[in-house]
Amino acid sequence: MTATEIAKSAAALVHRGTTDVDAAASLDELDAVERDLLGKASPLNKLREAIKSVEPAGRAEAGKAVGAARAQLEAMVAARRDVLSADARAASLVRDRVDLTTGGRGYRRGHLHPVTRMWRDLEDVFVGMGYKVAEGPEVELDWYNFEALNFPPGHPARAMQDTLYVKLGRPEEVLLRTHTSPVQVRVMESQRPPIYMVMPGRTFRRDTLDARHSPVFHQIEGLAVDRDIKLGDLLGTIEMFIHALFGPDINARFLPSYFPFTEPSAEFAMTCVFCEGNGCTVCSGTGWVELGGCGMVDPNVFTAVGIDPEEYTGFAFGFGIDRLVQLLYGVDHVKNLWDGDVRFAAQF
Ligand code: PHE
Repeated sequence: MTATEIAKSAAALVHRGTTDVDAAASLDELDAVERDLLGKASPLNKLREAIKSVEPAGRAEAGKAVGAARAQLEAMVAARRDVLSADARAASLVRDRVDLTTGGRGYRRGHLHPVTRMWRDLEDVFVGMGYKVAEGPEVELDWYNFEALNFPPGHPARAMQDTLYVKLGRPEEVLLRTHTSPVQVRVMESQRPPIYMVMPGRTFRRDTLDARHSPVFHQIEGLAVDRDIKLGDLLGTIEMFIHALFGPDINARFLPSYFPFTEPSAEFAMTCVFCEGNGCTVCSGTGWVELGGCGMVDPNVFTAVGIDPEEYTGFAFGFGIDRLVQLLYGVDHVKNLWDGDVRFAAQF
């Protein structure tokens, strides 16, 4: 071959090589193209060997042409490799991306405990009727829990409430409140009538745990003190909140009872929500379920807190929130409410 022929062939190889290099779509393909263009068996290598056959005067020129072709092809391959590896990196960034915005397994949002919900529903109903909400301490003085409520020391009605005493002060002076009624006394001590107040809270009695009794439970108390409050106002108020919570078919019933701090006193019951009064196992066939106690505030209680019983009258009522939840949801054992098992609470 002549030097000119070699130079022409080298230029042709570069020309074809350009197309092949551009066509390589991946790094693997480019490696193959590089082998074809520049490897031992490549036409370019053949051309380099052919230089030997060029007459001596033309060898340098032929060598230069082949060298330049090789350099051009190498530069093209290198440039293409840069582009392809940048593409590959970009692709792997997308492919291997860890998307922290899509969480693992979804988790359910919780909700309020049924007793908390009932507590709040009751507050809402009474606030809607113009009442305010007050709370008092769980550890009480005998004065508030008993004495100011007309249970003097040694009064037999104290035995109705199995009291837990705290080792503080004089013996039996400090106790865990057995009902929410002491908050009545605190409210009446701290403000003058008219008073329309509900007082929810946790209460304690030395009861053995059984299906319907727990040493820790919750009550809500209501107190109204004003001029001309009558028994009918009490009965109407209780009937109204029962209707507000359970609808017009559920009624209230009152039976005479006794509490030291109310006179007259009554127990009240509501229509059984399960049988709507027809009688079932929940209400032991009576059609009624007992809720709590109520009555007209005893004049002795007004005197103890410095309210003139000649000027004011009032009523009070109190009942168990847990008991109401148990009835409403058919919870057979009170401990289910407080086991802390979310599978139980999640049902409501
Ligand atoms: N405190 C009483 C109890 O726990 C209930 C009650 C409240 C009765 C208010 C009358 C008036 O047994």
